[in-house]
Amino acid sequence: MAKIYVSCRVFADEIERLRAAGHDVTMRAERGPISRDDLLRDVGDADALICLLSDRIDPHVIAAAPNLRIIANLGVGYDNIDVPAARERGIAVTNTPGALTETTADLTFALLLAAARRIVEADEYVRAGKFLGWELLQEHLGYDVFGKTLGIVGMGRIGTAVARRGHLGFGMNVLYHSRHRNTEAEAELGAQHVPFYELLQRSDFVCVHTPLTEETHHLFDKSAFRLMKDTAILVNVARGPVVDEEALVWALESSEIAGVGIDVYEEEPVVHSGLIALRERVVLAPHIGSASVETRRKMAKIAVDNVLSVLGGRGPLNPVT
Ligand code: DGY
Repeated sequence: MAKIYVSCRVFADEIERLRAAGHDVTMRAERGPISRDDLLRDVGDADALICLLSDRIDPHVIAAAPNLRIIANLGVGYDNIDVPAARERGIAVTNTPGALTETTADLTFALLLAAARRIVEADEYVRAGKFLGWELLQEHLGYDVFGKTLGIVGMGRIGTAVARRGHLGFGMNVLYHSRHRNTEAEAELGAQHVPFYELLQRSDFVCVHTPLTEETHHLFDKSAFRLMKDTAILVNVARGPVVDEEALVWALESSEIAGVGIDVYEEEPVVHSGLIALRERVVLAPHIGSASVETRRKMAKIAVDNVLSVLGGRGPLNPVT
């Protein structure tokens, strides 16, 4: 029997699968991110940890858990985990690749459309009883999406799924910037690989799908926003720190860009007060990229499958690379 610590609420049937395999499971039932002290205390005797992107699994946490054999992250991004430190101790690190690709691409498009067509402002307007009937010069005039230029930064699985929606669904011309060429997307969608500055200059919509690394930290700073069209809309569903929020607020306030749809923040769950204060073409979501019932179930299942596999001596199914 192994001890499994789960740092957040997970579907009861998945917890049951762990228990049915004979393991002793402790699931933290409180909402919100676990405090550092609680995490350090609670992993103490764990053989397996199921955790979230908001849990910083650094060398201190790893050292506090001498028996740990697997860290199963509930998400595809794993910038919260010090993978080399885990590897050094022989601890498997797993994620949930593929499970959330389409769901996150859907959310990207939801934010893009909501910001471009000012859906949230329009909803508030109707609820406030301000709708006086159709007018040509109606409030909430937005920007067209169909046929525009879509710039994708990070053409991995999610970026490609967004490009597919844009090109096949909305007749968009797709530009992308990525470390590697995506020849499939080039062939299937006519996507054009361009330097970052050119993507910024030419795109009407810029979608961020790059992982957070030292190179991508604050990739979107004042100089990036200066290059973008003043009618452009930025969508970030990747990681908050890829965008310098201070610079983003500046860019919106000084009309360097027209709007933003954001799902991720630099200091989650804190949201920059400058963003909260802005409403026009500014749409804010609480990190719900993968938040559909089907996808969150898949993610939990993958994490549990990985834990059972490692504890059963069969090795990780989805080791991070
Ligand atoms: C991920 O998997 O990296 C997402 O941000 C979780 O929704």
